[in-house]
Amino acid sequence: MKDLLATVKSNKKIAENIYMITLTLPETEKMHGGQFLNLSTGDGAQLLRRPLGICITEGNDVSACYQIKGKGTKYLSTVEAGRKLRVLLPLGNWFDLDGYKNIAVIGGGVGVFPLIAVIREYCGEKNFYSYIGFRNVDAVCLWSELNKSKKLVVTTDDGSFGEKGNAVSAFLSDRNNVPADVIISCGPPVMLRILKQKLEEEGITTPCFVSLEERMGCGLGACLVCVCKSASGENLRVCRDGPVFGIGEVTL
Ligand SMILES: Cc1cc2nc3c(=O)[nH]c(=O)nc-3n(C[C@H](O)[C@H](O)[C@H](O)COP(=O)(O)OP(=O)(O)OC[C@H]3O[C@@H](n4cnc5c(N)ncnc54)[C@H](O)[C@@H]3O)c2cc1C
Ligand code: FES
Repeated sequence: MKDLLATVKSNKKIAENIYMITLTLPETEKMHGGQFLNLSTGDGAQLLRRPLGICITEGNDVSACYQIKGKGTKYLSTVEAGRKLRVLLPLGNWFDLDGYKNIAVIGGGVGVFPLIAVIREYCGEKNFYSYIGFRNVDAVCLWSELNKSKKLVVTTDDGSFGEKGNAVSAFLSDRNNVPADVIISCGPPVMLRILKQKLEEEGITTPCFVSLEERMGCGLGACLVCVCKSASGENLRVCRDGPVFGIGEVTL
């Protein structure tokens, strides 16, 4: 993990309220799908950096995509190419797919961005069956990346693009056609809770790993802002012990 001064190469809107920022790093870093970076917003009044999933890496360039949520991401969306921003990366663990060949991917909202990094890392070598949920047609983005999957099902809450519904139900209704030996997922907490509940209800024992997006402070394991509970009630730091956990390891 390094604290680097990166140069903003581009910062563009890619969907309604969603931007992709590409940073050129002073050196190449090895990164894996599921890891994240902690990026300064460029606004001197906001000291805390913002955690964003690593989405695309190419040479010294790394891209992350973000939804405008509050003050930090709003400011970040105004940052122009050429600006220098401090970035800490790569942080956290990752989706380790060694030993798995057929991967079911269940993603929702901004959770799709780290999953894209996983598909890019392993495509050609492994088969991805992706079930991706967006709010509506205006939120759909990075289609060409998602389409690297062997099978891609996109859902929207209102049916304005793809199937009407959500990613978890799309996966469950198709699961007999999917030879998945592992499931990976990232998305809003409610989606992960429903996924866990449905896997239990339907007796699906396929290994499942989820990436959590808790509120964070330092991103380094020091402030304990990101603590979640393990299944046995112990504290886990999402930034240091995760963000990727076995679905049975954590309380969702
Ligand atoms: C591991 C990880 C990966 C993430 N990847 C992405 C991604 O790829 N794309 C994306 O759009 N969002 C992602 N998020 C969520 C993103 O970090 C928040 O939406 C963002 O920090 C909000 O900042 P803000 O200043 O706009 O909001 P504010 O509410 O103004 O933020 C105030 C403070 O709370 C923290 N905070 C607020 N919401 C969150 C949150 N959900 N998670 C963590 N910290 C939060 C901020 O970092 C900041 O320190 C990720 C979060 C985590 C933990
Ligand atoms: S964000 Fe500070 S300990 Fe995890």
